[in-house]
Amino acid sequence: MNDHSSTKTVDDSAITMGQFMNPEHANSLGNVHGGVILKLCDECGGIVAARHARRPSVTVAIDSMTFHRPVRVGQFVTFEGHITYVGRTSMEVEVNVKAENLLTGEITHTNSAYFIYVALDETFEPTAIPKLLLQDDDERQRFEDGRLRQEERLVRRQRAKARANGETP
Ligand SMILES: CC(C)(COP(=O)(O)OP(=O)(O)OC[C@H]1O[C@@H](n2cnc3c(N)ncnc32)[C@H](O)[C@@H]1OP(=O)(O)O)[C@@H](O)C(=O)NCCC(=O)NCCS
Repeated sequence: MNDHSSTKTVDDSAITMGQFMNPEHANSLGNVHGGVILKLCDECGGIVAARHARRPSVTVAIDSMTFHRPVRVGQFVTFEGHITYVGRTSMEVEVNVKAENLLTGEITHTNSAYFIYVALDETFEPTAIPKLLLQDDDERQRFEDGRLRQEERLVRRQRAKARANGETP
């Protein structure tokens, strides 16, 4: 069963994905394009979401992508994704990016962001997903933080919709 009556743990869907950075990923200075990092984060988060829901899952929002440090050609980059919060049909996945200098072993934390996915049924409508079985205080705190972020995102969505319709939010 993969509906809202079933439960899954955070570890059931968490993944780490790796990518060696080649010149094709970078600009002429050897810095990897932000869009390349963003795409790989979304891929990582999308796999986590599909593993939790066992349904096709689409990205509905990306909550703040910050580039703390540059990623350079020749570095090995890992993308660690795990679920922090689930609603009825939506999932928030935290993705952390770390770049490793293979010659020195130095590891730099370069990015963190929350990706929100919605699971879809056969008619491409949002469909209910398993609840999250929280196993310790850290996971319970992350879930509560995710719930508050989701509330804020939905307020922002309402305001954006109102503005797009020419209304005063
Ligand atoms: C995802 C999609 C089907 C949702 O449709 P919708 O009409 O907004 O559906 P709903 O209002 O029923 O929302 C479904 C869920 O998404 C959440 N959601 C919708 N918009 C959101 C936003 N901007 N931020 C966070 N969550 C959002 C809702 O809170 C709800 O979650 P819940 O069931 O856990 O409470 C629709 O927005 C869509 O098709 N978007 C395009 C997706 C896409 O092409 N992505 C890029 C390629 S993968």
